[in-house]
Amino acid sequence: MIPFRAFRLAGASARSVRLVGILAILGIVGCDAATDRFAANELHGRVVSFRESTGVAAAVEDSAAVVGELFGNPDVPLLPESFPDGLIDLENLQRAAGPVSSDREDVHFGIYRAHCVVCHGLEGGGAGPAAALQNPYPRDFRAGIFKFKSSPRGEKPLRADLTDLLVRGAPGTSMPSFARLPEEDIEAVVDYVIYLSIRGETERRLQRFAVAELGYGDERPDSTADRLLTDGEGHFQSAEIGSAVSQIITDVASAWIDARPVEVPAPPVYSAEAELDAAIERGRQRFHGPVANCASCHGKDGNADAVTLDYDDWTKEQTTRLGLTPSDADQIAPLRRAGALRPRAIQPRRLAWGVYRGTADPESLYRRLVVGIDGTPMPGLLVQEATGATGVTSTEVWELVAFLLSLDGRKDLLLTPSSRQEG
Ligand code: HEC
Ligand code: HEC
Repeated sequence: MIPFRAFRLAGASARSVRLVGILAILGIVGCDAATDRFAANELHGRVVSFRESTGVAAAVEDSAAVVGELFGNPDVPLLPESFPDGLIDLENLQRAAGPVSSDREDVHFGIYRAHCVVCHGLEGGGAGPAAALQNPYPRDFRAGIFKFKSSPRGEKPLRADLTDLLVRGAPGTSMPSFARLPEEDIEAVVDYVIYLSIRGETERRLQRFAVAELGYGDERPDSTADRLLTDGEGHFQSAEIGSAVSQIITDVASAWIDARPVEVPAPPVYSAEAELDAAIERGRQRFHGPVANCASCHGKDGNADAVTLDYDDWTKEQTTRLGLTPSDADQIAPLRRAGALRPRAIQPRRLAWGVYRGTADPESLYRRLVVGIDGTPMPGLLVQEATGATGVTSTEVWELVAFLLSLDGRKDLLLTPSSRQEG
């Protein structure tokens, strides 16, 4: 055995957490037998199985066991030993986890189960009991992809993006606003979302690692030294596997730490209504023109109820990227049994309504146009100042923002205060 301890206990003192764990097992603090384990990610296992044409039951089982040991369970969450400091507040994590309760000082526990689990599921897979009827579906946090954020495409959201989302909700979807929760409960559940996402992404990567690197297939590798297996105290069978696993965790967690907001140049400020209207008109033309080409998806003046056959990335992973369409019922059936929801096409937004799922102040809209929306077909614009050559200028992006704001009667936001008063 190698001296690689894979986990540390969440919370102020390891002993107190162990005590909570024991009490939970004894049923003293409301143990719910049905929820003391996160379900293994069978669905991603199926996707790997399909792609690699191999059985994955053993890889799914062993990955889940390792992740369980590293990250704990829904009642007693842990963080791995190699987990970077400062990203997740351990006390917050514990407060958001576990069964719903509150203490004498009215501190709330079990926030995730009280407010989120019905849609997002215990493990954050997005297929909670209320998920199947929704459009869009609740987010599966385990893919590590988030839509409404201020960082560049492909990067993790900032903590503030998640906090904003929880306060606002995502209007036009069933994601509610939690503005009435105390700020510390919002902060705690944000830690828990980050935890579920990192835990889930680690599990997905471990499944692929087991198949691609360790030789898992229909059977486990012959030698125990090649298995994803610990001695129950966090020691892996070989130093190589131990360090590969901690590298996976470090990579997933660092991406959260490294996230930075996209810089937004100051908006042009228009001092006269006529000047602004001219900018809006240029934005409108660009919206319909060949470079930005927004109208190809959003329709004339953003007015389309476009019907597309396109999917978001969560659905694509289980369909088109495997070469499957909804008519391939036989091949889709095992994915459905593993938890996949019925594929639903994604709709470009009818912009004329002015209902934004993400933050909708001018600066956020600018960012959304240059970043696009992760996990969806909504592309980002290339900005000349950033690329050095191709694309639109930042002023042209601002004119598109002005056009969007004119659609829902908010164009005044781009006027100087004095001309606003006059108008
Ligand atoms: C009634 C169902 C419902 C409940 C309850 C709910 N959500 Fe959601 N949530 C959704 C839906 C639907 C989406 C997807 C919105 C979209 O794709 O545009 C979503 C998306 C999200 C996202 C992803 C946002 C992004 O930028 O991609 C996060 C994070 C999230 N929810 C966190 C939470 C948390 C935390 C709670 C509990 C405090 C919660 N949700 C409760 C339905 C729900
Ligand atoms: C390839 C198709 C496509 C193109 C081109 C496209 N969009 Fe989108 N857009 C989408 C889709 C799909 C969504 C919905 C994403 C989601 O699920 O939230 C969307 C959403 C949006 C939203 C809503 C954001 C929110 O917070 O709710 C805005 C604003 C928007 N697009 C503006 C634009 C503008 C401006 C352009 C041109 C620069 C453009 N789009 C080009 C497909 C497209």
